[in-house]
Amino acid sequence: MSQNPYSLLFGKEPQQTISRAAQMNEIIDSFQADIPSQQIYMITGVRGCGKTVFMTEIAKTLSQDDKWIIVELNSSQDLLSDLAAALASENHLAQLFQKSSINLSFFGIGLEVKGSVPITNIQVAITKMLESIKKNGKRVLICIDEVTSTDAMRAFASAYQIFVRQDLPLFLIMTGLFENINNLQNEKNLTFLYRAPKVELKPLNITTISNNYKKTFSLDAAAGLEMAKMTKGYSFAFQVLGYFTWKENGDYKAALPDYQQYLEDYVYEKIWSELSSGDRKLAYGIAKSETGKASEIKAELSIENNEYTPYRDRLIKRGIIDGSEHGHLKFILPLFEQYVLNNYY
Ligand SMILES: Nc1ncnc2c1ncn2[C@@H]1O[C@H](COP(=O)(O)OP(=O)(O)O)[C@@H](O)[C@H]1O
Ligand SMILES: [Mg+2]
Repeated sequence: MSQNPYSLLFGKEPQQTISRAAQMNEIIDSFQADIPSQQIYMITGVRGCGKTVFMTEIAKTLSQDDKWIIVELNSSQDLLSDLAAALASENHLAQLFQKSSINLSFFGIGLEVKGSVPITNIQVAITKMLESIKKNGKRVLICIDEVTSTDAMRAFASAYQIFVRQDLPLFLIMTGLFENINNLQNEKNLTFLYRAPKVELKPLNITTISNNYKKTFSLDAAAGLEMAKMTKGYSFAFQVLGYFTWKENGDYKAALPDYQQYLEDYVYEKIWSELSSGDRKLAYGIAKSETGKASEIKAELSIENNEYTPYRDRLIKRGIIDGSEHGHLKFILPLFEQYVLNNYY
């Protein structure tokens, strides 16, 4: 049997991808514009919806253009030092900095620069580097995956704010779970983050998923669509269902028990453990209700609006339920309803 084309790995670009062209182009176009309309985007969405893959694809697309220098940073490290080191370690940039007499020897990075005083402040050093990058018509994109509100991250964000105010060509994409992004945005000194656009990743296109399965497993249109609908467009589910169906030689019905268990063990358990008891109670009410109607859910749980509304909003923001149809709630994740019914007590 040949290699399984579907992947169970998180954070790694899969072989089978369903395009998110529309959401991706919005970011790429605004970064590429002569006068960029945005320099920062925050990508949120539930675990497994495809944030890391999405950010990686944008970075990959931009990196094909010589103008862009891509730097990946980690929010639990010293991001300013790491940024300076990453920039200085690119060969052509190191030469550029040397020509502009930027002496980084104090930080133990970069090339020797004779006759200019070493810079001792990291923020000043980065400003000089970015000025010289700007003069050469280049731009820097920083990618931070799974951001958390650490001291290092807050320090970096406040410096970033100043770089952008100085009109330096520094761009930023961050991914994170809703609550982590939210914590960072609510920092007093980081009001600029409050205005920064948040991109919530939408489910993958069901027609495209269905075409993918049809082709891989030689299914007819009805079967391909039925299989696609089982994933609800959830990225991780698309891979998991494809993976186990491949193992069952194209029999997706035989793959269902493994599909369900894998989703539960690798994602739902974790999501569930992060919910408060109020969140769980509302999730249970939704799972129990036949119609998903707000009135039915409230009656089922014997709760009033003041208990219903805040938990509803939290579950929507975390990307667990969809409230786009007025007065109705439904789960976004496939088979999550069964998980809730089996695990609520
Ligand atoms: N556009 C896509 N098309 C198909 N599969 C995807 C896509 N984006 C992500 N995936 C798959 O979904 C899973 C989760 O992706 P990942 O980017 O790690 O999610 P997150 O960072 O949101 O937790 C991985 O198995 C990945 O292969
Ligand atoms: Mg990720």
